Amino acid sequence: MESSTFTKPKLIIRPARSVWAILLMRWVRNQVCEFMTGNNQPIPFWAQVKWYYQTYKGNPNIRGFLAKESGKTVGYGLIINYDGRWAVTAGFIESARGKGYGRKMFGFLNNYVFTELKQQYVYLDVLATNTKAVALYRSLGYKTTGELRGTLTMRCESPYEAGI
Ligand SMILES: CC(C)(COP(=O)(O)OP(=O)(O)OC[C@H]1O[C@@H](n2cnc3c(N)ncnc32)[C@H](O)[C@@H]1OP(=O)(O)O)[C@@H](O)C(=O)NCCC(=O)NCCS
Repeated sequence: MESSTFTKPKLIIRPARSVWAILLMRWVRNQVCEFMTGNNQPIPFWAQVKWYYQTYKGNPNIRGFLAKESGKTVGYGLIINYDGRWAVTAGFIESARGKGYGRKMFGFLNNYVFTELKQQYVYLDVLATNTKAVALYRSLGYKTTGELRGTLTMRCESPYEAGI
């Protein structure tokens, strides 16, 4: 009898280092822009290339990651230092949502901020209308610390001892 096996696709998260990785990040980002900004304004190709060379490359205040499923880029994550506060953001293409990847990516980003960057807190901004994302963040321990024009600022405290 023929047997078939089903292997759950695995998500691999890798640092985004090259300009090509940053263009793949834009490809995903342009599919989730309405969740990020509330509008559908895509990032032009040239603007992303400019951002890579002028802002991202070699900047220790920005860490980018790509998420791959069976070799295909399906999501990205970013860690950015704004005025001493480390904030995270992430997005997945529609076909990759609801599979636990967002939970895995935010778990990875939080852990990176706590253990690699040795921070006590990690922050994020989210549109209050993005109820799915807000539910995910709450379940990860994020608490709302402020609200401005429909955007919530949330903060999660490190489970590790302060000052690690
Ligand atoms: C928000 C996002 C990153 C979540 O990632 P995801 O892979 O879809 O979510 P997961 O499958 O890991 O689910 C995590 C949690 O989200 C919530 N969730 C997932 N699907 C949901 C749905 N259809 N309705 C309500 N909540 C849902 C649940 O709390 C879920 O918890 P569970 O693991 O106990 O079921 C992803 O949907 C996405 O990229 N959305 C578009 C971009 C975006 O909104 N980014 C965040 C900007 S701040």
